[in-house]
Amino acid sequence: MAYLKNVGTSDQSWESLKPELLVLGLFEGEKLSGFNLDVDDASGKAVSKCLSSGDFSGEQGKTRLLFPDGPAKRVMLVGLGKREEFSLDNLRQAAGTAVKTAQYNKWKSFVTEIPGMDALNESDEVVSQAFVEGLVLGSYKFLEYKTDKKDETILDSVSIINNPVRDGVERGRIIAEAVCFVRDLAFHPSNIMTPSRLASEAEKIASQFGMACKVYERDEFTEMGLGAFASVARGTDEPPKFILLEYQGGEKGDKPIAFIGKGITFDTGGISIKPSKAMDEMKYDMCGAAAVLGIFKAVGELKPNVNIVGAIATTENMPGGHATKPGDIVTAYNGKTIEILNTDAEGRLVLADALAYVVKNNDPQYMINFATLTGAVLIALGHIASGVMGTDRKLIEALIEAGEKSGERVWELPLWDEYCKDIKSKIADVKNIGAVRQAGTIAGGAFLKEFTGDIPWAHVDIAGTAWWSKDRPYIPSGPSGVGVRLSLELLNILA
Ligand code: BES
Ligand code: ZN
Ligand code: ZN
Repeated sequence: MAYLKNVGTSDQSWESLKPELLVLGLFEGEKLSGFNLDVDDASGKAVSKCLSSGDFSGEQGKTRLLFPDGPAKRVMLVGLGKREEFSLDNLRQAAGTAVKTAQYNKWKSFVTEIPGMDALNESDEVVSQAFVEGLVLGSYKFLEYKTDKKDETILDSVSIINNPVRDGVERGRIIAEAVCFVRDLAFHPSNIMTPSRLASEAEKIASQFGMACKVYERDEFTEMGLGAFASVARGTDEPPKFILLEYQGGEKGDKPIAFIGKGITFDTGGISIKPSKAMDEMKYDMCGAAAVLGIFKAVGELKPNVNIVGAIATTENMPGGHATKPGDIVTAYNGKTIEILNTDAEGRLVLADALAYVVKNNDPQYMINFATLTGAVLIALGHIASGVMGTDRKLIEALIEAGEKSGERVWELPLWDEYCKDIKSKIADVKNIGAVRQAGTIAGGAFLKEFTGDIPWAHVDIAGTAWWSKDRPYIPSGPSGVGVRLSLELLNILA
């Protein structure tokens, strides 16, 4: 969870707040001014001495702690890098770095202004939002299973002075909390974060915010014709769930925007079983579903004026006496037949039905699915960008723009006809894999496209971005909570 619980704004001067710690952001090669100069003057020139001695240059991501005499007991300098290169994401990173450094030193609170507000070509509200996202996301830790967590959770409040925009601060807090919720869902192991648990999390969100939620059980969705999803769930005794959420923020007849998530709570590969190395990471195969829940959590608080539906197909993918076998043919919700040549390409099967269901029953204006779909996207884009594919220029461009702005970048891959032919089956309509060792991520997208009817659709492959073993300034190692920030920004752009 996010351990930074109180992010407040204050109109008071920093001296009157009697800060335990002050955080100053500094650009490379710049003279002190404003707040920074003020603190320096009150601290026997401790900051300028540190700069002139060459002990701190303002390099992006670097920090320096000072303990001057005077009203500023402790001062943390945080490097912002070069002014010309400064971005919203650099700001989030600076905020995250400050929080982590304060946590590490076991300080309880700090006072800061939003650094570099004037260096960004964005409204003060957007800048305030990004800064708070960085603060709250940077304070995230997953300690649920540690019996002793007291030392790690000391920093709990930050006061922002010098005119932050309150609406931006609030939006940043809400979105970051939702991202941290997604990280928590993903961090829990598969014996805890079962499909039933995901369903109860969806129900909790729905009842908290007055949304509609419907959960279909195995028998029900099988009977309804979600044959592709049912085929994946055959190998597990853990009850699978088909979860639908509806938020009404627009007029009754307004077409909704749909978010659809892959919720494989553990992916063994099924009969096409995976190698055992790092198989534990396959507990994260529900990050698409978690993102959808996080979106609804944020939407519940932000209350945008649009209608939104969510659909999550969640199950374990297990081998077993009843499990689907390579070569089996099943019929999806839209009537298409699928030859399952690899039971480890299960995400596209559960999504096929979820997409087709939403097309038929919700007639959305746009639909966007999130899925940890292919290992191949990691080969193509690493952990830096999600792969995006789709059928609608406007939607793809909006996603790319939302990615830049939110810091959750996406990169488009083509769904050309030649690729789409690769998933045609000799004996069924389609098969669930493409050409051997070629364009694996695109094959996933090409397969999903078969189930999207004429609804403008985009598929976001988050297998690379949903988790990483590297600590970043505001994304600790483990699940990143990707999808929420991107989607909330997308809703802004589409509005
Ligand atoms: N859940 C995996 C994708 C994955 C792999 C995510 C590694 C994160 C890290 C997915 O279900 C899968 O196994 N995909 C196969 C597809 C293949 C059999 C066509 C893959 O990527 O190897
Ligand atoms: Zn798989
Ligand atoms: Zn999977």
